[in-house]
Amino acid sequence: MTAEPLAPHTLYPTAGGIAAATSDLSKAYGSGDTRVVALDGVGITFREGEFTAIMGPSGSGKSTLMHCAAGLDSFDSGSVRIGTTELSTLNDRQLTQLRRDRIGFVFQAFNLLPTLSALENITLPMTLAGRRPDQQWLDRVVAMVGLGDRLGHRPAQLSGGQQQRVAVARALASRPAIVFADEPTGNLDSRAGAEVLGFLRDSARELGQSVVMVTHDPVAAGYADRAVFLADGRLVDEMARPTPERVLDLMKGFDARPRTS
Ligand SMILES: Nc1ncnc2c1ncn2[C@@H]1O[C@H](COP(=O)(O)OP(=O)(O)OP(=O)(O)O)[C@@H](O)[C@H]1O
Ligand SMILES: [Mg+2]
Repeated sequence: MTAEPLAPHTLYPTAGGIAAATSDLSKAYGSGDTRVVALDGVGITFREGEFTAIMGPSGSGKSTLMHCAAGLDSFDSGSVRIGTTELSTLNDRQLTQLRRDRIGFVFQAFNLLPTLSALENITLPMTLAGRRPDQQWLDRVVAMVGLGDRLGHRPAQLSGGQQQRVAVARALASRPAIVFADEPTGNLDSRAGAEVLGFLRDSARELGQSVVMVTHDPVAAGYADRAVFLADGRLVDEMARPTPERVLDLMKGFDARPRTS
């Protein structure tokens, strides 16, 4: 092994099994009276093959953290790396390429293209990258999201839950190094949600897929290998092998804490 840094985009090696990491990450929106600190020095490591749930009250910075860690949004200070690649060393073109090759993202709003069918939406990132999908994997992803005969339908012809499943399948289809999912089950009924969560968990356990998921739901967090908790833009707690009961207890504790401001 050599410490020589490898050029980004030729190889994306991981160091010590780290899929992605942030260090002292801070970001504020607005200025003066309207300034909001969304992230306040967040340092977190996402290991390869680990399924992490990010929890915290509305406005605590969960989506901002995901967007910054996925290279979708800028930040004020600190650093983000995907594998061994520091995002700050990349120009716009390189960043776009890294996002396309290495990152899957499931948005809180589905962001599907209305003119494409479900299947075309799922394979779009690979179509854009000029890559052929791994057919066996794609079949598995498609089977898991359970779209069946609706694969040829456009998003407007699908229910909210079905659209969200297409969005999850799209993020997984290219087998990215890390999948970020912002409340992927927020629009699903409990059965459909359980299927998506089960697939995310299995993809981490059986295939080494790294997954980071935002959720408000203690049951969803129970599928993850660990849960981390944000409040006011800071990491305030972490739990290994979360269960819905323990997550709920911890959240009750947060609610019971006296407010300092
Ligand atoms: N584009 C923006 N302009 C100004 N403020 C923003 C913007 N995006 C987010 N914020 C603020 O930053 C803080 C963190 O927002 P963020 O969306 O990361 O929260 P969240 O934890 O994902 O919340 P939710 O659970 O409601 O999705 C909030 O106070 C929010 O109002
Ligand atoms: Mg959010």
